[in-house]
Amino acid sequence: MQHFLPNGSTLVIRKPRIEDAPVLLETFRRMTQESDFLLYTHAEAMKFGQRDEENFIRQYLLQPRHLLLLAEADGQVVGSVTINQSKFGKQLHLGELGIAILRDWWNLGIGRRLMTAAMRWADEHAEIEIIHFNVVANNEKAIQLYRNFGFLECGRLPQGVRGADGSFTDLITMSKRIKNF
Ligand SMILES: CC(C)(COP(=O)(O)OP(=O)(O)OC[C@H]1O[C@@H](n2cnc3c(N)ncnc32)[C@H](O)[C@@H]1OP(=O)(O)O)[C@@H](O)C(=O)NCCC(=O)NCCS
Repeated sequence: MQHFLPNGSTLVIRKPRIEDAPVLLETFRRMTQESDFLLYTHAEAMKFGQRDEENFIRQYLLQPRHLLLLAEADGQVVGSVTINQSKFGKQLHLGELGIAILRDWWNLGIGRRLMTAAMRWADEHAEIEIIHFNVVANNEKAIQLYRNFGFLECGRLPQGVRGADGSFTDLITMSKRIKNF
């Protein structure tokens, strides 16, 4: 689906292809440099190689119970959203969401568009009833984005993450029931 961004760029939200691996890997590495709100450090991201990234994409292409969508702006991959259905039989009703965008493309509504596409996919996925994820407590923009989609805080792990400077921040769990009982 094609959208127009406030800066005049064209946004396409699409499924990945194996050939996206080098670009997606580079995007992931940059994101870990640009944002402290991701759990991966840049050093950890640098341990992933192209083969790992191809396998990462492949698992989404082969397993329709998981979702990976890419945001492509003016032909460049600038963000992604994932939903992973739990692998446990007792938790097949749970899908864990993750989202990230390159800094140059923040505040243009790409997060909202990716969330819309992911939530539409989840609505149509018969088994997934609850979407959940963790978010660092001072990630105000992400929390606002999630609230806009009806997600509510349902738990908090005090000192759930420790930054490079040694300081702790709480980790919030947010969730939303997307299907009625
Ligand atoms: C969080 C993130 C995905 C948001 O994406 P984005 O494209 O910048 O967000 P959008 O432009 O769609 O804005 C989303 C909402 O955030 C809110 N928002 C924007 N700027 C804000 C700010 N400074 N403070 C609080 N809320 C803000 C607005 O409500 C906006 O929705 P609206 O414009 O429809 O009212 C993106 O900033 C990002 O990738 N950050 C780094 C990685 C990250 O934190 N991922 C989430 C981990 S849980």
